[in-house]
Amino acid sequence: MNKKILAIYYTQSGQMTEIINTFTAPIVAAGASVEKVTLKPLDNYDFPWTGQRFFSVMPDCVLSVPRPFEPLSLKEEKYDLIILGWQPWFLSPSIPTNSLLLNPEFKVLLKDTPVITISAARNMWINAFVRVKKALADAGANLVGNVSLVDRHPNMVSFITIFYWMLSGKKERYLNIFPKPGVDDKDIQNTETFGKTVSKYLALGDWTNLQDELIKQKAVVINYTLMFTEERAKPIFAVWAKFISKRKNQAPWLSAFKYYLFIALFLGAPVLIFLDAILLKPFSSKRIIKKKLTYLHVTT
Ligand SMILES: Cc1cc2nc3c(=O)[nH]c(=O)nc-3n(C[C@H](O)[C@H](O)[C@H](O)COP(=O)(O)O)c2cc1C
Repeated sequence: MNKKILAIYYTQSGQMTEIINTFTAPIVAAGASVEKVTLKPLDNYDFPWTGQRFFSVMPDCVLSVPRPFEPLSLKEEKYDLIILGWQPWFLSPSIPTNSLLLNPEFKVLLKDTPVITISAARNMWINAFVRVKKALADAGANLVGNVSLVDRHPNMVSFITIFYWMLSGKKERYLNIFPKPGVDDKDIQNTETFGKTVSKYLALGDWTNLQDELIKQKAVVINYTLMFTEERAKPIFAVWAKFISKRKNQAPWLSAFKYYLFIALFLGAPVLIFLDAILLKPFSSKRIIKKKLTYLHVTT
């Protein structure tokens, strides 16, 4: 297959490298040329994080402030397909992802080019995906497919295990009691199936039914409770981000945000979810289905 593909992504732990390698393997096997490029930000997002540094990126994430990265030295001027590997940070595209999407050189490359997005999140990726979709549309890209990988463990469990992973650098079972954090190895392996599907449509030269097939293969699944929680959190994060970004001394406010996040997740969210389950959800099935479809599909 005489096709040129760019797989561009950012990763700290290496999880996205594994995903991109597995996902693109069938495309490579079909004979396409896949150029893999890792984004290298100039700022220090060294992994593992310290607790303070982890929260310090929140305002820039939420407010979409781009940061510099090493120049992209790409082999081609035009690709048949761009695969974008990305991850959410604070319900927003990670700073490197957002910086790439706002980069003028990359925007030229995106124009009129088919794009497939693949994300690896803890479990809250919807708000960030809406922003990625919009940035791609603004650049004139043609988003043809999306894969959203998550940690499938219960929200509170993955909240604990991701912190252990992010602050220790070890994708291991915390205390030997908790499950392994991040996207499960089996789910990473399964991206090969999605890659085969993409390869089929790439050869066909028609992307029309790709996302429908990916949805059938469960490349993206919407969990109602997480969707509900994210939607409630989005405007609150925006208020915090705007407020903190205006402070000269941000440290105490970032610390306050950290405590807010713990309280919101462990106390606020369960109460809201309960109230929604008895007061709103039973009467909103049409609205919920419509929303789910918006997030499952790739049209804006
Ligand atoms: C600063 C920061 C904030 C994050 N916020 C979220 C989030 O809002 N939602 C989510 O599902 N995952 C979140 N994660 C997890 C990441 O999306 C991702 O799964 C993890 O960082 C592994 O990605 P990697 O390939 O860069 O190592 C966050 C991670 C970091 C470092």
